[in-house]
Amino acid sequence: MKKLVLFFLTVWAFQSAKADEGMWLPMMISQNYEEMQRLGLKLTPEQIYSINRNSMKDAIVHFGSGCTGEMISPKGLLMTNHHCGYGSIAAVSTVDKNYLMNGFMAHTMDEEIPCPGLSVRFLIRIEDVTKEVNDFLGDAYGKEVEKKQEEIFKKITTAANEGKTYESDVKSFYAGNRYYLLVYQRFTDVRLVATPPENLGKFGGDTDNWMWPRHTCDFSMFRVYSDNDNKPAAFSKNNRPFIPKHYLPVSMKGVKENDYAMIMGYPGRTTRYMTSYGVDQAININNPTTVSVRDKRLAIMREEMEKDPAVDLAYASSYAQIANYWKYFIGQTEQLKRLNIIGEKEKEEEAFQEWAKENAREYKKVLKDYQKAYAAYQPYAKHAVLYREAFLASTLTKYALGFDALQKAMKANVSSDSLNVICKKLLKNRKSFDGFNLTLDKRVFAALNQMYYEEVSKSQHPEIFASDVFANHGNADWKKTFEDYAEYVYSNTLLLDSAALAARCNADSVQVLMNDPAIRYALNVMQNYMDNYDPKAKEFGYDMFELNRAYQGALLEKNKNKKMYPDANSTMRVTYGKVLPYAPKDAVFFNYYSTADGLMEKYKPGDKEFDLQAKIVDLLKRKDYGDYADKNLGNLVTCFITNNDITGGNSGSPVINGDGELIGAAFDGNWEAMSGDIAFDTRYKRTIVADVRYILWVVDRVLDGRMLLEEMSLRN
Ligand code: ARG
Repeated sequence: MKKLVLFFLTVWAFQSAKADEGMWLPMMISQNYEEMQRLGLKLTPEQIYSINRNSMKDAIVHFGSGCTGEMISPKGLLMTNHHCGYGSIAAVSTVDKNYLMNGFMAHTMDEEIPCPGLSVRFLIRIEDVTKEVNDFLGDAYGKEVEKKQEEIFKKITTAANEGKTYESDVKSFYAGNRYYLLVYQRFTDVRLVATPPENLGKFGGDTDNWMWPRHTCDFSMFRVYSDNDNKPAAFSKNNRPFIPKHYLPVSMKGVKENDYAMIMGYPGRTTRYMTSYGVDQAININNPTTVSVRDKRLAIMREEMEKDPAVDLAYASSYAQIANYWKYFIGQTEQLKRLNIIGEKEKEEEAFQEWAKENAREYKKVLKDYQKAYAAYQPYAKHAVLYREAFLASTLTKYALGFDALQKAMKANVSSDSLNVICKKLLKNRKSFDGFNLTLDKRVFAALNQMYYEEVSKSQHPEIFASDVFANHGNADWKKTFEDYAEYVYSNTLLLDSAALAARCNADSVQVLMNDPAIRYALNVMQNYMDNYDPKAKEFGYDMFELNRAYQGALLEKNKNKKMYPDANSTMRVTYGKVLPYAPKDAVFFNYYSTADGLMEKYKPGDKEFDLQAKIVDLLKRKDYGDYADKNLGNLVTCFITNNDITGGNSGSPVINGDGELIGAAFDGNWEAMSGDIAFDTRYKRTIVADVRYILWVVDRVLDGRMLLEEMSLRN
């Protein structure tokens, strides 16, 4: 009987647990405030987002080129994900001092490691500039909008920047139905403070990636530095730790099911208003093509990386990024099909059509026009993906494309001085060969250009396949053809030899340079694409812009009595919900938290993804969890899940309880909801969070970094 009651309670809980869809702009939370309070929020809207007073938003940064970080001490200490710090950690590592592999802790501020190129920016304010932008755009259409937008955005941001004090963006929301100005302050002196060893920070590797249950301790810590006036400054020994307007206190209390959870961060991109036609294109063209190219590329990279620790380190970050979205697209396709998202979208579209017929006849044709636009672009869609994913994969090719500027300059008969200036720049760009591995790149070039040849329809091929590749290296075996051709290109190009290149790159001998095999190939394929197929992609883009503007504008009208959030666009958003388990499929139930027991269950000595260092195994065996153990469980909680609405870019975001305290670092989404960027599923969508107590346990016990805890404000 008791069991039966429990069963009904569980079923009831699932049905009434409305997962909380919506990535709200911070100033929109007032419309959600009652619901947030009902769920357990104790703060006022002003404490979360205010442009007049210090508020929670002042603790949140846009980290690096696309993650989120948060201030966790009054001395500029910043937490983000391990996979967000990954590139910087790899860049400051060497085979001998391999912080990526072994972890790192700066025991004093002097030991912190500068990370050139890494920066963070704080949001200063957001302003609605819709009227100003629209007045300027008038009835501009398609391509013209792009040009005019650029102009008016520039005018608005230049004023907002106040010289070089700030940097700002104007961004379009609801596909051009609203425009907001976002003003930021950027800090460029950011130093590495702490990172777990990779086998904790990326525990479970690609096998566990995008999956729950999880045991990854996906965090890293940095420190933001400023000049003596607390203002941004280039790296200097004299800089001092930045004092943030707000930093997050850290909760040691842990979470229970149904606890309030809120996330503030920078989600990158969603396309929730995509039509069924778009989903069809994703399922049948874009996703499978991307996955098959990446399959190949990753297999080659893996083989070469395994041969040499230096290659492994040099390509680690690039590998992780490619693999992350390789698995993402596999999961997205699987879930779009399983959840019948096309069918769901079709239902919404039918309802839209009904509404338009009754209320807004000017929108009656929008969906038909979508269908036409997708159909018109269909023959070229695959080519666009292959161009990006396959042709552009090799470092040599990407570098060779830079010589387009030289070719254009020659055709324009510019002075030899100007040619020399271009050459100088090109030589400087050889930096892109840092860490370059010739064998790996050559193999990628051969295999992926073979795919490009095979997968792009023959009628769209560039000339060079016939004139060079097959004319000189042709073979019934295409694999051999492209391998021979790659061998020829890589052994004869001057681009890999900076001295030889420097000797040739000048006004006198550029003509010869243009016959370099790598340049010939790159420019020929590129020109074919740019002349004939990129215009199709652009035209499709303008069609989409206009249709999305009309469709989302109509939806705003249709939903005017409901709340409607804009798609993610790398601007700050708030999502709120709660800690919640889920049932991924019939008869299976996933608890909302994982524990250190799971680390030991998954532990596989010697395995690249599931190994653990002896020190960690020892701590786990002794169950030495100290104050970081959960009081009720007597165990170390590693990760937990919430029903918050996040996406890539939110990585590193703070998960915050009803009292405004940090309870964890958001780092992933779950497999069963991988279609979430296109359609949010309230039953399955979960955010995966590293429990802050797990993070602090690693800082203290694994990395011996207790002094960092003293900077924080820990709340029991
Ligand atoms: N899926 C995570 C995200 O995009 C990244 C996880 C990185 N870990 C990995 N094994 N690649 O936010």
